[in-house]
Amino acid sequence: MNLAANNIAYRRPDLYDALTRDSTAAATCRHLIDQYGTSPAGSVLDLGCGTARDLARLATTTRRCVGVDLQPALIEHARRRYPGLDLRVGDLRTVRLANTFDTITCLGNSLAYLHHNSDIRAAFATFAAHAHAGTLLIISTQIAPTVTTASTHGRIAAAGLGAEVTTEHSWDPRTQIATVRRTWRLENGTTERDLLERRVLFPRELELYAGLAGFKALALFTDLEDNTGPLIGSTAYFVAGYNHEPFSALGRNAELRTTSEDATAHLHERSS
Ligand SMILES: C[S@@+](CC[C@H](N)C(=O)[O-])C[C@H]1O[C@@H](n2cnc3c(N)ncnc32)[C@H](O)[C@@H]1O
Repeated sequence: MNLAANNIAYRRPDLYDALTRDSTAAATCRHLIDQYGTSPAGSVLDLGCGTARDLARLATTTRRCVGVDLQPALIEHARRRYPGLDLRVGDLRTVRLANTFDTITCLGNSLAYLHHNSDIRAAFATFAAHAHAGTLLIISTQIAPTVTTASTHGRIAAAGLGAEVTTEHSWDPRTQIATVRRTWRLENGTTERDLLERRVLFPRELELYAGLAGFKALALFTDLEDNTGPLIGSTAYFVAGYNHEPFSALGRNAELRTTSEDATAHLHERSS
């Protein structure tokens, strides 16, 4: 899949930055690192870092930060904007750096661009390859389809571009791909179209892939103010800690614990 051909914001990284300027992802990660991490000021690897907005924010309080993204144009854009950051072109299914990190992030639906189970296994193998005992994994990804069939309309004025944008959603339960089609009617009279295809990973799948790779689920939440509350909305944060032991080594009961039970157990461990 050619990501840039399908997404106007990838062709125009300045537009991507403008549209995601108000992201709270870095602040959420910092909060999670303080809550669950073992080394708050240590190191962060951001896989699928895009234009490195979040990594740049995390770098203000973190000693070593590395970002990896598949798209060279986004990495070049990010290097110009943040010359001090270590940014690399790479595929999150296969990249292997010679280090482990205290925190690994995969934010803003980057994981959802991997559509097949084997790709997702490969991504979790990459997470494990860069983890040591206690490494915190923070993923934000789509955990439910957007079920609305009605198209929505909005006006966007950002990065010197004005457009009327129509957005339509569809959902294929067989492949678990949620598709977003956007039509941009630009002020200069031209029209551009986006096709965003995201694999939905249901909560139990996230737990399973994480467990198979040696990560233990710690939290799954959609409400930034309450990380043990009910899941509302389609995009969630999934938080896990690396403990080396995949499910096969832990035995059957490891699969039966729920994320909230794990989170509660973790909180008890921390407070005891
Ligand atoms: C929606 S953007 C999110 C970027 C950034 N994490 C953020 O929150 O702004 C998804 C990113 O995933 C990257 N991506 C998709 N597939 C990838 C892969 N196999 N390896 C590395 N990056 C990938 C894309 O290039 C894109 O930058």
